[in-house]
Amino acid sequence: MGVMEQFNLAQRVVIVTGGSKGLGREMALGLAEAGARVAVVSRTRSLIEQTAAEIVGQGGEAIAVPADMTREEEVESMTAEVAKAYGRIDVLFNNAGIGGSKRSVDLTVADWEHLMNTNARSVFLACRAVGRVMIRQRQGKIINIGSILGHGALPNSLHYGASKAAVHHMTKTLALEWARFNIQVNCIVPGWFLTEMTKDQQEGENETFLLGKIPFRRFGRPNEIVGLAVYLASGASDYMTGQTLFLDGGYAIS
Ligand SMILES: NC(=O)c1ccc[n+]([C@@H]2O[C@H](COP(=O)([O-])OP(=O)(O)OC[C@H]3O[C@@H](n4cnc5c(N)ncnc54)[C@H](OP(=O)(O)O)[C@@H]3O)[C@@H](O)[C@H]2O)c1
Repeated sequence: MGVMEQFNLAQRVVIVTGGSKGLGREMALGLAEAGARVAVVSRTRSLIEQTAAEIVGQGGEAIAVPADMTREEEVESMTAEVAKAYGRIDVLFNNAGIGGSKRSVDLTVADWEHLMNTNARSVFLACRAVGRVMIRQRQGKIINIGSILGHGALPNSLHYGASKAAVHHMTKTLALEWARFNIQVNCIVPGWFLTEMTKDQQEGENETFLLGKIPFRRFGRPNEIVGLAVYLASGASDYMTGQTLFLDGGYAIS
């Protein structure tokens, strides 16, 4: 097989959670451009319909499937709907997530549960639902979106860091369990990207502090995640599993 052919996603059925904006939206558009049929998922129907319409407008194939990824029944019905629409599910991007910055002593149990449910439980629920389909197929790829804050610590991000460390760990456990079913499970670990989630970090003292820690001295542009996303969704990554791949302008090196 030629090298460009290895990256071809033609006919692959890909779910992107959190596809209404930010990194998820960019990945949905990029994966579709590489040939994938994309199910765009988030809670906001109007925005995922917009992403799907943009894909279709560019000659691609996409559907919008609303779901709150913290809710077991909605994750199950979203999975069933995609499997019914396309007959299979080849790739799952667990990208939906929220940020959070608060002093650890001020965190409430509600803060903790909301963040852990959105960033970590959602990944468990989606992997379990879609994993069952992939195990039946004896084929699949799961790409989780972790964070540099799940690797190295930053004050005031206890719940966020813990949720992403859980995502990094789930990546390894599932990779081990499901290798025998020909399912690859990997994790993209973004650094600081210019999205709504990081808007408070993109100005003032926070920005100066972070730019000082990023060797490239700039935040990532959202479309800079697309190349790695296509690689991990494609046949080019068939021998890679259980990995956490840093995409962070060098932030985590030191
Ligand atoms: N931006 C960065 O610098 C950065 C760095 C490291 C890691 N990350 C990770 O990258 C992922 C995407 O972040 P982003 O920066 O693109 O954030 P964003 O622009 O705020 O987008 C977050 C996405 O998650 C969706 N979402 C949130 N809660 C959801 C739920 N309960 N069910 C379904 N969808 C939900 C949102 O859609 P709705 O509101 O429509 O549901 C939205 O599409 C997150 O997991 C984040 O932790 C980002």
